[in-house]
Amino acid sequence: MIFDTHAHYDDEQFDIDRDELLNSMAANGVGTIVNASAAYESCGRVIRMAEKYPFMYAMAGVHPDEVGSLDEEKFARMKELFQNEKVVAVGEIGLDYYWDNESHELQKEWFIRQLSLARELGLPVNIHSRDAAQDTMEIMKEHGEGLDGVIHCYSYSKEMALQYVKMGFYIGVGGVVTFKNARRLRETVEAVPLASIVLETDCPYLAPEPYRGKRNNSSYIKYTAEEIARIKGVAAEEVICRTEENARRLYRL
Ligand code: NI
Repeated sequence: MIFDTHAHYDDEQFDIDRDELLNSMAANGVGTIVNASAAYESCGRVIRMAEKYPFMYAMAGVHPDEVGSLDEEKFARMKELFQNEKVVAVGEIGLDYYWDNESHELQKEWFIRQLSLARELGLPVNIHSRDAAQDTMEIMKEHGEGLDGVIHCYSYSKEMALQYVKMGFYIGVGGVVTFKNARRLRETVEAVPLASIVLETDCPYLAPEPYRGKRNNSSYIKYTAEEIARIKGVAAEEVICRTEENARRLYRL
């Protein structure tokens, strides 16, 4: 069944029908969802949601756009929260030089500290990196040793993707691969072995074709799987099945 390795069901866009939508997932072929926090405030929310739905797990962490709100007290609280048995990863964490909400120095500092926290807790990491390819790679080389995880919504070169695969990371592929202008991502998918790819939505964002621009949800992953299957020359069912195995290995489930 479909394993969505990165979703944001605490987003207010789901306020109108969250329960109904999540309860329809199994009927739509979705077996497992990892719900990701972005801001400090959403760490507790995604964990509470994971406790409510048996097929849902949580990844907790603070997104680079939001690290300005962190301090020592909150960081200590995060460490306590992340010991909940439904927390399967630290994320999403990383660098975002596109929105550039916080200084690069502050983003790097909290990225590195959250990597250390993941190591301490024995959890994989979920990396968000936008317009920050070089700095992210440098930090992962210097501070990521012994860690595993996924480079979520991967958007850089295929060469760099293969470098991450060699370092033991998975490449997260979502709806973008179905977009007309996604030539570079399709080349990456062609180059990276299926054994190192996991599927994700990042919903409510980044819905695949034919729903581009609409609210995304985990059942639309079938369109992403179909596109990957086309690129790889295999059946969509094989993509769904293999990436589910990868995701279980990644999140130790
Ligand atoms: Ni996300």
